[in-house]
Amino acid sequence: MRVLLGISGGIAAYKSAELVRLLTRQGCDVRVVMTEAATQFISPLTFQALSAHPVHTQLLDANQENAMGHINLARWADLFLIAPATANCLAKFSYGLADDLLSTLYLAVECPVFIAPAMNQAMWHKPTTQENINRLIRHGMTIIGPDAGSQACGDIGPGRMTEPEAIVQKLCIQNNPGILQGKKILITAGPTREKLDPIRYITNRSSGKMGYALAEQAQQLGAQVTLISGPVVLAAPEHVNTVLVESAEEMYTAVMQHIADQDIMIAAAAVADYTPVNVKAEKIKTQNDQTELQLHKTKDIVASVASLTNKPFTVGFAAETENLKQYAQDKLTRKNLDMIAANWVGQKEGGFDSAVNALQVYWQNGQKIFPMTNKSQLANQLLALIAEKLHA
Ligand code: PMT
Repeated sequence: MRVLLGISGGIAAYKSAELVRLLTRQGCDVRVVMTEAATQFISPLTFQALSAHPVHTQLLDANQENAMGHINLARWADLFLIAPATANCLAKFSYGLADDLLSTLYLAVECPVFIAPAMNQAMWHKPTTQENINRLIRHGMTIIGPDAGSQACGDIGPGRMTEPEAIVQKLCIQNNPGILQGKKILITAGPTREKLDPIRYITNRSSGKMGYALAEQAQQLGAQVTLISGPVVLAAPEHVNTVLVESAEEMYTAVMQHIADQDIMIAAAAVADYTPVNVKAEKIKTQNDQTELQLHKTKDIVASVASLTNKPFTVGFAAETENLKQYAQDKLTRKNLDMIAANWVGQKEGGFDSAVNALQVYWQNGQKIFPMTNKSQLANQLLALIAEKLHA
């Protein structure tokens, strides 16, 4: 996606450097336009280094017009994001003033426009600013934020620019509106607990964050979501049919009860592969120095779904500490999956119980790498890929 990022002159301009970094990590081609005032807060050189392209600051610059003039720049963009947008910038957009490159581009673009305002809380509350915002909304612009909190000037209230991660997430969702509209999707999440006796169990380090992020994002992308979750401390996502289970056997039963008319199944749960042969009715007593546990294999839930005659588009996960690609591709074939999302676990960053993750996704004759990012964004990227393959 080609993102034209406009930066106007406010203290929040420093946050736009992170915005460029996040957007480029998403695979976006970013070109930056700065107002004169913005260059007083942060150097264009920073944005040139981060975006790997020269920064545009002048409306009438003979060199720039030769290379990529303002009309070409406007035509080039798939999306125009202005962050931060000052009160002055909003007023110019609202009244169609075009006295610098940024405001001229606003008039010239035909792509979707997203505006992240940032200003002092009193300026935000001023009726003139509110009227300008409402006009821009009526004209089809999407306003992101502002957030409330303590401000650089010492005031407290609304006017802080929304954090870069939240802006990028909003762009991803808005850019893929309804790609899962009308689709039914079943997602498993979290660990399972395999009872040994009334007080002990075998489990793993899954927090459910990956599966819950998938459920939330799928719901926001228009899907009707059923989430079958092992025991986690996360709140059930809004507007998602959440079914809580404990053991691998319970997860299997719940999945089979809900699978009939699903279009997609994503198995993000870390299901126990083995469960105790006997669950003791009373607490197991400490006796010998060594003891043995007899375990038997659990039912493979995702493989069972993939073997149904009317199977949904079935996506498994692979959590590995070595040979990630090889083991994931083996699971893809062995479990008859349509796609597998492989992640490293047991590393310093990502995997189990982390806010971030990275995925290597494989399907027959194809693969895609999603670099380390927060689990919401990653979920959004994976769902966009699934939707693409499903529609293909
Ligand atoms: O929950 P988080 O803390 O956010 O961590 C996320 C995660 C690391 C748990 C997640 O990204 C992940 O990798 N989930 C799958 C973990 C796993 O059990 O992987 P596996 O390689 O052992 O299993 C392969 C696939 O078979 C998985 O889709 C698994 O859900 C499924 N399976 C496994 C055993 C079984 N009995 N039934 C299954 O359906």
